[in-house]
Amino acid sequence: MGRGSCGCRHPLLAVLLPLLLVLAMVPESAQLQSSQTWSLLKIQQLLSYPPVLRTWGNGTDFCYGGDYKTASAFVECYGDSVTQLHIMGPGGAPPLPKTFNLDALFTTLTRLPDLRVLTLTGLGLWGPLPGKVSRLASLEIVNVSGNYLYGQLPEGLSRLGGLQTFIADDNMLSGELPGWLGRLASLAVLSLRNNSLQGAVPESVRDMGSLRSLALACNNLSGQVPDLSALTNLQAVDLSNNSLGPAFPRLGRKVASVVLSGNRFGNGVPAEEVASLYLLERLDVSRNRFVGPLPPALLALPSIEYLSVAGNRFTGLLAANMSCGENLRFVDVSSNLLTGTLPSCLKTLPSSSNSKQVTVLAASNCLSGGAGSTQHPALFCQNQALAVGIVPVQARGGGKAKGKAGAVAGAVAAALAAALLAGVAAFLFARRAAVRRAKARPPRRLVEHAASSMSVGGGGAYPSQLFADARYISQTVKLGALGVPAYRSFSLVELEAATNDFEVSRLMGQDAHGQMYRGTLGNGTAVTIRSLRVRRSQTSQAFNRHVEMISRLRHRHLVSALGHCFECSPDDATVTRLYLVFEYVHNGNLRSRISQGTEGRKLPWVQRISAAIGVAKGIQFLHGGIMPGLFANNLKITNILLDQNLVAKIGSYNIPILAETAKSEGGGGGGGSKYPSDSRVPPNGDKIDIYDFGVILLEVVTGRPITSIHEVEVMKEQLQSALTSESPGRRRALVDQAVSRACSDESARTVMEICLRCLAKEAEQRPSVEDVLWNLQFAAQVQDDWRGDSRSSASEESPLSPSQIPPRRDRETSAW
Ligand SMILES: *[C@@H]1O[C@H](CO)[C@@H](O)[C@H](O)[C@H]1NC(C)=O
Ligand SMILES: *[C@@H]1O[C@H](CO)[C@@H](O)[C@H](O)[C@H]1NC(C)=O
Ligand SMILES: *[C@@H]1O[C@H](CO)[C@@H](O)[C@H](O)[C@H]1NC(C)=O
Ligand SMILES: *[C@@H]1O[C@H](CO)[C@@H](O)[C@H](O)[C@H]1NC(C)=O
Ligand SMILES: *[C@@H]1O[C@H](CO)[C@@H](O)[C@H](O)[C@H]1NC(C)=O
Ligand SMILES: *[C@@H]1O[C@H](CO)[C@@H](O)[C@H](O)[C@H]1NC(C)=O
Repeated sequence: MGRGSCGCRHPLLAVLLPLLLVLAMVPESAQLQSSQTWSLLKIQQLLSYPPVLRTWGNGTDFCYGGDYKTASAFVECYGDSVTQLHIMGPGGAPPLPKTFNLDALFTTLTRLPDLRVLTLTGLGLWGPLPGKVSRLASLEIVNVSGNYLYGQLPEGLSRLGGLQTFIADDNMLSGELPGWLGRLASLAVLSLRNNSLQGAVPESVRDMGSLRSLALACNNLSGQVPDLSALTNLQAVDLSNNSLGPAFPRLGRKVASVVLSGNRFGNGVPAEEVASLYLLERLDVSRNRFVGPLPPALLALPSIEYLSVAGNRFTGLLAANMSCGENLRFVDVSSNLLTGTLPSCLKTLPSSSNSKQVTVLAASNCLSGGAGSTQHPALFCQNQALAVGIVPVQARGGGKAKGKAGAVAGAVAAALAAALLAGVAAFLFARRAAVRRAKARPPRRLVEHAASSMSVGGGGAYPSQLFADARYISQTVKLGALGVPAYRSFSLVELEAATNDFEVSRLMGQDAHGQMYRGTLGNGTAVTIRSLRVRRSQTSQAFNRHVEMISRLRHRHLVSALGHCFECSPDDATVTRLYLVFEYVHNGNLRSRISQGTEGRKLPWVQRISAAIGVAKGIQFLHGGIMPGLFANNLKITNILLDQNLVAKIGSYNIPILAETAKSEGGGGGGGSKYPSDSRVPPNGDKIDIYDFGVILLEVVTGRPITSIHEVEVMKEQLQSALTSESPGRRRALVDQAVSRACSDESARTVMEICLRCLAKEAEQRPSVEDVLWNLQFAAQVQDDWRGDSRSSASEESPLSPSQIPPRRDRETSAW
């Protein structure tokens, strides 16, 4: 093999990979319509020839020439019409000169009739957004952050029916949020952080049915937050650093991130409602005016990773035996009135994984036992708690309150008492109201209708709904990539060293298009390396796209891509071979721990659910966490791999570049697919994966290997009849004997029911992946409660003991 090198050996070039690829590209014949070229050059002129556009000139071929593109400024075309324009200034740019005319800029933009994605950030734009923005009728994604836009949002925006993402952070927009926001029915992401908006959040945001992310942090907003519980797609809310409050906002059940810090929220946290937020990963209510007992349920939320309640007036006794969610990584309870000791689960997590470190901040409370020296004397918190009528059970130890401190504390307490009393009364009232609401709600329906989560389709070259979501989701799922080394480009020398010069003994498999090797990098990381022969006929542009996409295939629940390397022909520097490096996952596949496991190796029920949750999260990432999403991944239980901590990872998925090459089974990254690389999303592609997931779940529940459609059909009938049966015994009989004794009926029922829905014949009737996740989290939670109940007959005295988590009446009666 004569190996030349065109990139793998040079780290800097490798960073600029996309650039490099386009350099090698032969311009194709079609030309951007000259009027659009003219418009782009006019924009350059209107922006006073900023340094980021220095590569633009009269001869630039914007659609097919690549050499003008940089990471901060580029154009994308569809056919020969501009669909995306990205110009990202360095940030901190001063305002453009007095002669600048924002209106003229938008007039010029209207000459790009197919413009869907517009990024004009950090360029020093100034002025009010002109109403004629409404003439950019194709706009879907807009980011104009970091400029000096001022004045009100123009009503013209409300006429952009296709608008999915609008981001104008770090500007000087002022006035009230307009009521017409409610008309933006497709808007999924609205971000207006760090502006000067005033007044209340309009009630009409409740009509923004597609909203997934609402970020209004760092403004001057005030008043009550409207009821957002009807926004079933809402996943992230950031309202920090305003003057909102006092009532805790009502939220849809699928929120993953809620940030309310630095506001005037008071009363209490409605424990019952918050406890039903099964997908909540991040909750930040710091620096508010919350009073009353800290609901222990917050620590135990099933998905919670980040919890901050710092800087409030939360009272109550923390106990060593309180439970924590297993994903918890950060907890800040500092500057409250808490007594007792830190829960021991915050010191050593229940999970088997030892890599997980929880950061716990607890300064300025009245805690004892290893909470650090920055605690007040117990009397300080007790006095205040007494003053508001919340009597903690005998605070333990550490009560060596010195006279002076006690006196000061007493004085402070007296001063605060009145305020707190009012707060607690309001809290108790709100809490009763919450309980009433909960009772009034209809019983939980497991068969809840798929929150129209992913409308595939859209128009043009990509499913535009997903496009919009991907940008936002990829921010929130970054956490998921934790633990995987950064993606990079590898040198051929490195890969040769890793595989001992591609030694035969390292070969794991091969097919017509290349080989797969196992290797060990210099730092000891085990990897799988897929070597792919590249057909010359493949255009570099297609290639560029693939590598960019592959670099994003990184998630806790995927066998993740670690990097790539090109091998080039020494003659013409065209790429002859592509190496893809994936992590090596080596603790067997899921089937080996379910239906083929020997006694001791079979996963218990709870771990089965968490493996299923992992797979579902992996699917959620493949569908919505990258753009374009990957669908129809041909998921199989044998391709779900487990790492040393038994974290489930999807080992084979529909990487477009592999579509033309053969399938690989297990071992690491990337299988084949039924759909060629350039295809749009296949109709109901997301639901194909949901079905395959259902088949996996069926095996996970029953512990029987399922190898044919016929078996699936037979089992479906058994599931159906067990589900409708009055007798829990019928269901128990269907669950794998190895685990059925330790599995609660409610938990089994929930999993069976969602499994059956995944296996629905009609794709439209299958649930969304969010729906699946919600139900699995619920199943894990009821299992947990059941285990807790059967373990201890809980005592009632301690105001904060976990037994006080309000019973979830709304969920206890099953609806089917
Ligand atoms: C582009 O062409 C115009 C007129 O055709 C000319 O005035 C201008 O100087 C040219 N710009 C560059 C960068 O060559
Ligand atoms: C919007 O632009 C800013 C500035 O370039 C950037 O930091 C931010 O990530 C962009 N937001 C999205 C969602 O792309
Ligand atoms: C807020 O936006 C202004 C520009 O309007 C910027 O200068 C400032 O750095 C931003 N503040 C933060 C905290 O990002
Ligand atoms: C915030 O709004 C209030 C009125 O609601 C006004 O008095 C105050 O000056 C505003 N603060 C800033 C920083 O704009
Ligand atoms: C809110 O303000 C605090 C303190 O002023 C600051 O530390 C924090 O970064 C701000 N939050 C956001 C989201 O900017
Ligand atoms: C936690 O410990 C307290 C005593 O310290 C006890 O009363 C309570 O029942 C325990 N709770 C659980 C759930 O074990």
